[in-house]
Order: sequence, then C-alpha cells, then structure tokens
Amino acid sequence: MVEKCLLVKYRDFLPVTPQTPLITIGEGNTPLVRSQRLEREIGCGELYFKLEGCNPTGSFKDRGMVVAVAKAVEAGNSAIICASTGNTSASAAAYGAVCGLTVYVVVPKGNIALGKLAQALVYDARIVAIDGNFDKALELVRVLTQKYPIALVNSLNPHRIEGQKTAAFEIVDKLGVAPDYLFIPVGNAGNITAYWRGFVHYKQAGRSATTPRMMGFEAEGSAAIVKGKPISNPKTVASAIRIGNPASWEKAVAARDESGGMIGCVADEEILNAYKLLAAKEGIFGEPASAASVAGLLKLAHSGHNFSGKRVVCIITGTGLKDPDTAIHTAKPPMEVAAELGAIETLIVQGLEQTNRAP
Ligand code: F0G
Repeated sequence: MVEKCLLVKYRDFLPVTPQTPLITIGEGNTPLVRSQRLEREIGCGELYFKLEGCNPTGSFKDRGMVVAVAKAVEAGNSAIICASTGNTSASAAAYGAVCGLTVYVVVPKGNIALGKLAQALVYDARIVAIDGNFDKALELVRVLTQKYPIALVNSLNPHRIEGQKTAAFEIVDKLGVAPDYLFIPVGNAGNITAYWRGFVHYKQAGRSATTPRMMGFEAEGSAAIVKGKPISNPKTVASAIRIGNPASWEKAVAARDESGGMIGCVADEEILNAYKLLAAKEGIFGEPASAASVAGLLKLAHSGHNFSGKRVVCIITGTGLKDPDTAIHTAKPPMEVAAELGAIETLIVQGLEQTNRAP
C-alpha cells in the first residue's frame, strides 16, 4: 500500500483547502527507534530517537516546507526565498524545484555545511552567500519579501510551523501516548514551537491525554534565550543552530513555560560527545546540531536528574551526512597500511586483543 502523503494524512490539522496542490516527495512518517544502549546507561524507562534525517532532503524542514510551498503555489507565487544555515535552503530548493518555482536562498558565506550547499546547488536554487551570519540574512530576506512578490519560506511563515507540528502527531500515533519529555535542539526556535503546537492540538482533539515537557537545547555560544539577550556573533560547531537572535523566541519561551519544561544550553564539547556516542552506541548518524538534544539529556542525567520510569523522545533533526567536515575532523582517521594480508592481519589481531582485554 502506498503511504498517504503528509498533506493528506494530517489534512484535518493543516491549512489544506480544495485548491492546495497535494505535492509530496516522501516527507514525514520518519522512524521512531528505541534506544539500544543509552536508555540503560541513562536509566530512563523508555528512550526513543525520532529520525528526522530520514526526510527526503535529510532534515525535518521538509515537513514545514511541503506546506509552505504548497500554500505559496496556491497563492499564485512563482518565487520563494529563505535565509538559512543550510537545511531550510536545501528543503526550499527541493520543493521549489518540484513546483517549478524560482528559489532564492541567502546563506552565511563559508558557514554552511558542505552537503547542504551541494543540495541547494544541485536542486538548482539561486544561492546568495553573504558576508554575514544567519540573523543578518533573515533580516535582509524579510525586507525583500515586503518589497517583492516572493514568498518567505522561513519558519516566520506560519505554514512552516503547521507542517512541522506533524512530527508530534507521529510520535503520539506510534507510542499511543505523548512522551513525558521531548528533547529538541533550538536554533531559530521554530521547531520547538511547532512540536508544542502539535502536542497541544492532539490533546485538544482527544488523541492524547497529556503533553510532554519541552526540553529545548541551544548551543552555549549561541544561547540567546538562555542568556536572555541576542548574541551578535554567535558561535558553535553546530552550524545549523549558529543563531543569535531566534525569530520564534517568545513562542519557544511559551512552549517551555506552558509545558513545564526548560530551555538550556550545551557546550560544543558536549554536542560533539553526544554526536559520537549516538553514532557509536546507537548506530545513528545525526548532524552536530541534532546531537544537542541528546547532549541535553546526557547533561541532565549526569547532573542527577531522575528519568526512571519516564518515556523520553530525542529529536534527531538532520542527517550527519550533510556535514562531512565535522565528521572527519572529530573522528579517528582510517588506519592506512600496505595492500598486503600480513599488514591487515596485524591490525586485526591487535584489535581482537584489545577487545578481549576490555572489561
Ligand atoms: N537542527 C537542524 C539540523 C537544523 O537545521 C535547525 C535549524 C535546527 C535543529 C533548529 O531548528 O531553527 O527551528 O530552532 N536550521 C535552520 C536552517 C535555521 O536554516 O536550516 P529551529
């Protein structure tokens, strides 16, 4: 049986009208996988990872973009634009391509992961690289969309938030209940806003009895919400969330407060540690920004927060394949030897001895 596309499956909860084109490139319906090892180490009841990197362009952005682009087409737009740290631009470029739109993406020059740039290039977007950060890029595209008939497809566009909330629906549909805690990275703060809206809408519709505590995590060098003020020169290894003035700041704070959750921050070292643990212990290769959710969970667990008996979901927002540079610079390099049996055997024997010695 062919799966229903996102716009059809959750039509009753989305701004879909008879005029909305039901476009799809296979977004949504991403895996919710149970932890194999970290669950035990952290001591939580159940730990799940929502693999948003399994969306067609490799990140959660596709859920919101399919709605935003369908609505732009419905409204008669022939061009769309976004500012991006990379994933939004890849997604906008893909959905724009499907609909034959002209796509403009404005990105911070030299500061987006290589895979994301490659995507926008191949999807044939018009890429404008500025000498400035994401916050500046967003400021500029907001002005441009007021002057020209181009649809803004950043998460300031309410249709993006509507689409992204479907991930919360999927979690409740799969688990049969809402989790106790939802850990999620925070950059421009659209996604935490969207998930909260999804959980609230499902509760209002009688599909779940409870809502989770929303646990958002910014990167320490870009933690505007945690620090209570915009950061003019945000820094972090996690380029996707290198954002100093989140557009959905107030909505994220409301999600935090209404859900009884928190917005915290994690240092780059904690992000990279979680990034490697996730891959080495769970077989999940998320991008560094995605690992901020797991880093936040580990930080709380290590500081004594008790998750026993609790159902916890971490959102893995994008695939690690998008950022090969970080992978190569943080992992052990390959072992290089001569193309001879003996040379490889020596390495294997050493490795087996180490494994046998390990506790
Ligand atoms: N994780 C990934 C992989 C992202 O690409 C982003 C944001 C976030 C988390 C944070 O989500 O902004 O809704 O709080 N990326 C945007 C972009 C900013 O341009 O691709 P948020």
